[in-house]
Amino acid sequence: MTEHSTTETGSPAPSDAFSLTAGADGPILLHDHHFIAQMAHFNRERVPERNVHAKGGGAFGHFTVTADVSAFTKAAVFQPGTTTETLLRFSTVAGEQGSADTARDPRGFALKFYTTEGNYDLVGNNTPVFFIRDPIKFPHFIRSQKRLPDTGLRDNDMQWDFWTLNPESAHQVTTLFTDRGTPATWREQHGFGSHTYSWVNAGGERFWVKYHFVTEQGIRNLSASEAATISAEDPDFHRRDLIEHIKRGDHPSWTLKVQIMPYADAPGYRFNPFDLTKVWPHGDYPLIEVGRLTLDRNPENFFAQIEQSAFEPSALVPGIGVSPDKMLLGRMFAYADTHRHRIGTNYTQLPVNQPKVPVNTYTFDGAMRFEHSGNSPVYSPNSYGGPVADEVRGAEIGWEVDGEMVRSAATLHAEDDDFGQPGTLVREVLSDSERAALAGNVVGHLKGGVSAPILAKALAYWRAIDKSLGDAIANGVNGH
Ligand code: HEM
Repeated sequence: MTEHSTTETGSPAPSDAFSLTAGADGPILLHDHHFIAQMAHFNRERVPERNVHAKGGGAFGHFTVTADVSAFTKAAVFQPGTTTETLLRFSTVAGEQGSADTARDPRGFALKFYTTEGNYDLVGNNTPVFFIRDPIKFPHFIRSQKRLPDTGLRDNDMQWDFWTLNPESAHQVTTLFTDRGTPATWREQHGFGSHTYSWVNAGGERFWVKYHFVTEQGIRNLSASEAATISAEDPDFHRRDLIEHIKRGDHPSWTLKVQIMPYADAPGYRFNPFDLTKVWPHGDYPLIEVGRLTLDRNPENFFAQIEQSAFEPSALVPGIGVSPDKMLLGRMFAYADTHRHRIGTNYTQLPVNQPKVPVNTYTFDGAMRFEHSGNSPVYSPNSYGGPVADEVRGAEIGWEVDGEMVRSAATLHAEDDDFGQPGTLVREVLSDSERAALAGNVVGHLKGGVSAPILAKALAYWRAIDKSLGDAIANGVNGH
């Protein structure tokens, strides 16, 4: 039987083909509410795109704990044998919604665990470090990666100007210009929490932790020319690849491993463990297995489940907390604030964002609020049986703080400097062919409209990372 279309209010639609006119060739009548509803709603179809990470895609899946890390965290999601429903969204950072998936950029790796203790969001990237270490620089950094104010063009000069004036970017820029900056697919890359987080176990003992999602598909990257060809032929290449693999039952998976630092190690560690531009070498803190993440279900509706998905580092659960990493602390504000602007005050009531546990919050009303608690009290404390905070289970994980209020860089540890770790990456981690690809990728980018003064700074920056790599880049740029 044919299913009939309706108006927005559910009555039979008069037509989906003809507007109501006075005579067959006559003017359209204002009381054709059905026509006006179609036009007016169409004008409001878009929500603002994400200010960063606008282009992406994702899928649902589950996370199963395969090891026992209960000595480090009491979080229910990480207790032995637990399986939790998840949503993972991948993205590029700087491009707009229609931009090419294979552009050189970090990839977002935003994971929502729908746990029995509320939603836990781990909003990471495919790189373990980041370009800056103070969140006050974030808007400046992002604007340098986006478009010029006068022409609306992307601009390599602006990018290198920012990076060279902020040398703490060197580790992430080095990573970005290896072929890991152009992963073959979303499936064939790692994911990282990047920041240092805190964990607390049932006995109240605290730890510092870093998350690594190791791809079970193996790492595979594109060369700069492969990435450029695919950009031109299929800008949605990564989105399509994920959908097609899941559709045919080839479910991508990642092993979650963590690095655990005993709480008391932090002050004496050779690197500032809360500096997002640094990694903890695995020799210092080895990877410990936690569990397995698998993606097995495509969204049924891209807008409702991917575009309206809202991830926020502030969505934490008992047993997991933040750390003195200033970038992470800045992000605690940014995400929920942008969600209220982008998809509305009550974005947590959208089905994809709803926790799978009862929500008993005293936040109240606002645009599009539909979940409510009847006549339950709207203020706290009250004498009428309204919910009360569980101040033991809900307590944040803290750390000792003392000192003057200052605006300054993070404290320096023995081996802290901006160029040391990227230099080690270039000399000790990359193979000869990976180093050659890195040099070639940088040369190609520097030849793309970088002015002479900024080029000179960029060559000095690369020589500070590694003298011979810098020389090779200089030769390449000068055409030797
Ligand atoms: C998205 C801010 C650093 C990973 C976003 C969005 C904002 C933002 C406003 C858009 C969110 C939305 O509209 O839904 C910031 C600020 C940062 C920062 C202020 C630093 C102070 C980082 C870092 C990472 C990261 C260090 C990774 C380690 C992501 C990801 C998304 C995102 C994966 C996309 C989430 C999704 O798929 O919906 N960020 N960000 N961001 N950010 Fe950040």
